[in-house]
Amino acid sequence: MKTEIFTITNIEQQRSEIEAAAAYLRAGELVAIPTETVYGLGANALDGNAVKKIFAAKGRPQDNPLIVHIAEVSELYAIAREVPESALRLAAAYWPGPLTMILPKGDAIPPEVSAGLDTVAIRMPSHPVANAVIRAAGVPVAAPSANISGFPSPTAAQYVIDDMNGRIAAIVDGGDCEYGIESTVVTLATDPPELLRPGAVTVEQLRAILGEVAVNPAVLNPLAEGAQAASPGMKYKHYSPRAEISIVRGDLAAFAAYCAAHPDDADAALVFEGEETATPLPCVTFGREDDALSQAHRLFDALRELDAMGAKKVFARSPSPQGVGLGVCNRLYRAAAFRFLPEPGKIIGVTGASGSGKSTVCDLLRQRGAVIIDADAEARRVTEPGSPALGRLATAFGADILRPDGSLDRRLLASRAFADKEKTDLLVSITHPAIVERCRAQAQAARDAGRTAVIDAPLLFSSGLDKICDLTVRVEAPEAIRAARIRARDNISDEEIAKRFAAQAEEAALSRSADVAIRNYPPYELEEEIKRI
Ligand code: TXA
Ligand code: MG
Repeated sequence: MKTEIFTITNIEQQRSEIEAAAAYLRAGELVAIPTETVYGLGANALDGNAVKKIFAAKGRPQDNPLIVHIAEVSELYAIAREVPESALRLAAAYWPGPLTMILPKGDAIPPEVSAGLDTVAIRMPSHPVANAVIRAAGVPVAAPSANISGFPSPTAAQYVIDDMNGRIAAIVDGGDCEYGIESTVVTLATDPPELLRPGAVTVEQLRAILGEVAVNPAVLNPLAEGAQAASPGMKYKHYSPRAEISIVRGDLAAFAAYCAAHPDDADAALVFEGEETATPLPCVTFGREDDALSQAHRLFDALRELDAMGAKKVFARSPSPQGVGLGVCNRLYRAAAFRFLPEPGKIIGVTGASGSGKSTVCDLLRQRGAVIIDADAEARRVTEPGSPALGRLATAFGADILRPDGSLDRRLLASRAFADKEKTDLLVSITHPAIVERCRAQAQAARDAGRTAVIDAPLLFSSGLDKICDLTVRVEAPEAIRAARIRARDNISDEEIAKRFAAQAEEAALSRSADVAIRNYPPYELEEEIKRI
């Protein structure tokens, strides 16, 4: 098929070309059109057979529905079964513009457009050429981005020509796209409305009109195995350039340090403007660090440039997910197949009875670069003056457990809390979640920095801390050896030692389910044992 190219620089003077493009659409042919977001691959949305050609030309999976593009708000009523008042408010605020809303589907729209769903996505683009072509066609235009499925969306006519020449009737060249990432997609078919794809209209702007708006978890996370995609487009590998991209967490200094430490792991860098010399790698830029719109505008171009350079492995700077940056992150994370560097470290929980030598094991792990989190120290911190758990304890056990200076009278609390099982459980239900949360936050910070986090917790299992660990370790030693160590260390009576062991019976039983057991007794082979972790 020969693809006709119409280059439009003046709509008024080029009416005949607009008309020619519109005639192809009416005749059931495909026409690529410029929009303010990315180029779209259009077909008459009322003609199921025409719409089928889109899926063939793009190699698009049949179950991924299309957006219907309109030129007037009043067209909503012919496309949607119901038009809620909230849709009209959104349209008044952000149409024409980079916003798609999902509404219940009307009967005029064939199932090919919605991929069988009973909802339909609708958008009114602001690009004057898109508006002129849709108006001239006299029909709503179903259009996905005009790229081969899986590749970056085209932000200039040349990219559409590269992908679609010979496959479609016509390409309307209306210059470079203003925003460079696809429209914001919000569904009004759920309560509350939900953001399915972030774009240039931000979630804050949606909330200003709609009130509560949920953000679908797939916006910034890979779809969990087997999970149902609210928006079918989110389940496909998307925006993927040929190069393997990895996002380096942290600021410019962290990026430069990581690149310097791993000189053989990348052959190109994707950085912000002005950072060209941060690494010796050849680089491509995508906007300014503090300007998400400029990043959106450049991102897909930059990905294509990396491919054109022949880049195989790319280290990318990490954009901030604020405002329009949420859309930038959504596209870049997918382009990177959610690869982040440094690779997140593991969270390891270590438990062990008194005298088992848990601290020795933790020290060895520290020497190997792990961050040690002391759960006992965190337990004391959750009852420091001013902490929320302390307030709850005072409510539950009496205001007089707080001294005049706000500190906790531990002895008084103990005398009340250990009076019976019910009271002990109440104490635990107040303090343990707070301890777990403190440990979790610290472990998360360590792993985000690529470090292994070790939680040293005598009550790893009884407190529920085991649930936030990737791996649990039980340090063990025979009772006689443990008793001897305690005697030498703490100088306490055998009776007290026996009491201490009895108090740890529950944890000892639970810790049988630890993933790994480390033997800290003769013949000492701790180094060997730790290598198994
Ligand atoms: O900016 C844009 O939106 C561009 C220009 C051409 O308008 N179009 C675009 O279309 O990006 P496309 O097909 O690449 O992305 C449409 C997204 C897909 O993720 C699709 O799954 C989702 O919208 N979508 C469409 N109809 C839907 C529906 N009824 N329910 C949920 N998601 C829907
Ligand atoms: Mg697309």
